[in-house]
Formats: sequence, structure tokens, C-alpha cells
Amino acid sequence: MFLNFRRIRKCQCVQLVTTCFVLSVLMVCWEQLDHHVVSHMKSYSYRYLVNSYDFINESFGIRQQEAESQSNFPYLINHHDKCDSNEVLLLLFVKSSPENLERRQAIRATWGNETYTQRELGATVRVVFALGVHPNPQQRGHVQRGLLGEDQVYGDLVQQDFVDTFHNLTIKLLLQFRWSHTYCSQARFLMSADDDIFVHMPNLVHYLRSLIRQGARDLWVGHVHRGAPPNRRKDSKYYVPYEMYQWPSYPDYTAGAGYVVSGDVATKIYQATLSLNASLYIDDVFMGICANAMGVSPQEHVYFSGEGKAPYHPCIYDKMITSHGHVADVRYLWKAATDPQIHYISSGLVGKLYCTAVKVMFLCKPYYFNTYPCKAAFS
Ligand SMILES: *[C@@H]1O[C@H](CO)[C@@H](O)[C@H](O)[C@H]1NC(C)=O
Ligand SMILES: *[C@@H]1O[C@H](CO)[C@@H](O)[C@H](O)[C@H]1NC(C)=O
Ligand SMILES: *[C@@H]1O[C@H](CO)[C@@H](O)[C@H](O)[C@H]1NC(C)=O
Ligand SMILES: *[C@@H]1O[C@H](CO)[C@@H](O)[C@H](O)[C@H]1NC(C)=O
Repeated sequence: MFLNFRRIRKCQCVQLVTTCFVLSVLMVCWEQLDHHVVSHMKSYSYRYLVNSYDFINESFGIRQQEAESQSNFPYLINHHDKCDSNEVLLLLFVKSSPENLERRQAIRATWGNETYTQRELGATVRVVFALGVHPNPQQRGHVQRGLLGEDQVYGDLVQQDFVDTFHNLTIKLLLQFRWSHTYCSQARFLMSADDDIFVHMPNLVHYLRSLIRQGARDLWVGHVHRGAPPNRRKDSKYYVPYEMYQWPSYPDYTAGAGYVVSGDVATKIYQATLSLNASLYIDDVFMGICANAMGVSPQEHVYFSGEGKAPYHPCIYDKMITSHGHVADVRYLWKAATDPQIHYISSGLVGKLYCTAVKVMFLCKPYYFNTYPCKAAFS
């Protein structure tokens, strides 16, 4: 009798303690929970219930004069004739920063090597590095002299007179579309890429050629973010204040690490930038707003990675287009991934089965998100 009573008391006590614990965890983590769960729920319900972003043009609209002043920073380094060939398959803009010489060198020697692409793939690609000026005024003069010297050797820098910072990335976006409109409007495709990604150029050229056979119009391809909510946490790099963007969800957009648009879309985006307020500093989201205003929707390609890094394996190299987070290993990966031998690994029925199994192992793990999606294993 007494024992029983004590047991009941003990049970209740445990219950009470557990409840308190859960409640306090909830209270402490509410902000996290709110950010991850509630904002995503809001954003998804918004996206599917409202499913229209007609308001965007209106609330972002500005006069042409104002739009002009957002992007007409004088060019400090430029190459009018960089694109003077009639047949340009791809104009590839690499978003770089003045101090990232090492990265540019690695890119020139690997996926950004125009000579390689011409000789080995028979494709005309123009690679241009988009830059602003160094943020630190004390170092600016010295860094700028370095850039001028570098440009004497390679002739592939395009620099405007704005401060090159994270929060000015949208200005860099405007630079890319403005420059391509002015100096390279004949390019069939325009690509925008970070300087810490890897691009499998042979696979990309192959893919772009297949798009040309299908007409190559109205295309915007990459790793698509659908119904992403704005980040409202002040401590985040991607924080966007309510005044800058009032709605619970962004229009769909492709991850800024690397995406491709066809020439006609590049023109449309350029036109959109002439009437939209570019104060939203997350460049890929702003690109989504421009595209939305022009009625262009992004398309998913499973082998464009967002923030994810591709697994190192020949079966992956056989298909990959972009992979994010490569600085020290770009040369190694280029050598490994463009080895002509890699195509044999997936040839024949046995090869196909083997590679599918390998890709399922790499890509279909529940915790391996952010690289290519599981369905990429079957394509
Ligand atoms: C670019 O590729 C060509 C042809 O494959 C090669 O000869 C040249 O060394 C490469 N350039 C650099 C900077 O590696
Ligand atoms: C962006 O660039 C402009 C022009 O150089 C500069 O005035 C502004 O401070 C920069 N903004 C940021 C956030 O760096
Ligand atoms: C652009 O939007 C910002 C708010 O994000 C606002 O402060 C600014 O005045 C707007 N610019 C123009 C030219 O309307
Ligand atoms: C936004 O709307 C205005 C007026 O409705 C129109 O003149 C303008 O071209 C539109 N801008 C874009 C980028 O669609």
C-alpha cells in the first residue's frame, strides 16, 4: 500500500519534471524552432495558397533614372572586345573579389581555360571575372596595382568602381547583365558562377549543345530554391529586414553559386533591372524577383549543386555540372573529373548498374543533403 503510493508519487514527479524540461527546451529554442519550422510553414502555405507574386513589380518599381544610378558605376577595368567572335556559346561570369588571385589562377588553369574549351571541345566560351574595388581603403591602392598587372597578362577582368562586399553582390549582378547586354549580346548562354565552385566544362558544353538542339529559349537552369522564406534573424548573414521584403516567401530562384540562362532570358533580366529597386542585397533572390517580373521560371537540373559539394567518384564525374566549395582541390578535381577514361566506367549494362548503385550510396543518405538530390542517382 505504502509502496504503491510512493510509486505513484514518483511517477507524477517524473511527469512533472519531464513537462518542465520540455517546456523550458521549447522556450529556449523557440527562436530556432520559429525560424526553421514556423517560417517554412508560413512560406509554403503562402506559396501554395497565394502562389502569385504580381505585387512584386509594383512594390519594387522605380523610375528609369533611379535604376540607372544603381548600376552605372564607371568601369575601372574593361574589355570591349572580349566577345568579338560571332559564335559565342557561353559567356561565363565568375564573381570574384580583388584579393582572390589564387582562385582566379586555379580557374584559368582548369574550368575557365578558354583555350582548352576551344581545342578540346570545339566550343567558344568567354570567361570574365566580375569585380568591385577592395573594401579597405588602406590596401586598395596596392591591391588595385596588382589587379592591373594581372589584367595585363590575362585580359579577363571587368571591374566597376563600387566597394566589393557581400552586401553589394546585387550591384555585381547588375554589372553582369549590363555588361553582357552591352558587349556580348550574341552569346547563346550566360552563366554566373562563384569563384569557389567547380564547373565540369565538358559536361556543361555537352548539356548546352543539347539545349540548342531543342531551341535554347526561355531557359534558366540551376539548383532551384522553391518557396524559401526570408531570413529574419538579425545575426544571420542572409538577414533581410521586413522593410526590404515584406512577404513570407521569395519567388523561386536558383542558387547563386552557379546557374545558366539563355540569351533571351539574359536580355529580359537586363530589362527588368532597368525598372526594379535593387536594394535587396541577396543577389540570387533579386535575380528571382527580376525573372518573376518578366514571367521567367527557373528549372531544376539535378547536377547543379547549391551549397553542396559533390562526392569524389568517377560515377559522379561522369554527370556532374557544378559543385560548390572547391578552392584548394580545383586542379586535382579538374584532372580527375575530365579524364577521358571516366566515361568507360558507366558504359554498358554492368557499368550503368554499378554507377547507379554507387550514386544511390552517395546521394540517398538521409543526412547527406545539400549535394545532388537522391533522384540524381537514377538519371
Ligand atoms: C589551357 O589549356 C591549354 C590546352 O589544353 C594548355 O596548353 C594550357 O597550358 C592551359 N592553360 C593554363 C593556364 O593552364
Ligand atoms: C556598396 O558600394 C557603394 C559604392 O562603392 C558604397 O558606397 C557602399 O558603401 C557599398 N555598400 C556596402 C554594404 O558595402
Ligand atoms: C528601394 O527600397 C529601399 C527599401 O528596401 C528604400 O529604402 C529605397 O528608398 C528604395 N529606392 C528607391 C529609389 O525607391
Ligand atoms: C512593372 O510594371 C510597370 C507598370 O505596370 C511596367 O511599365 C514595367 O515594365 C514593369 N516592369 C517589369 C520589370 O516587368
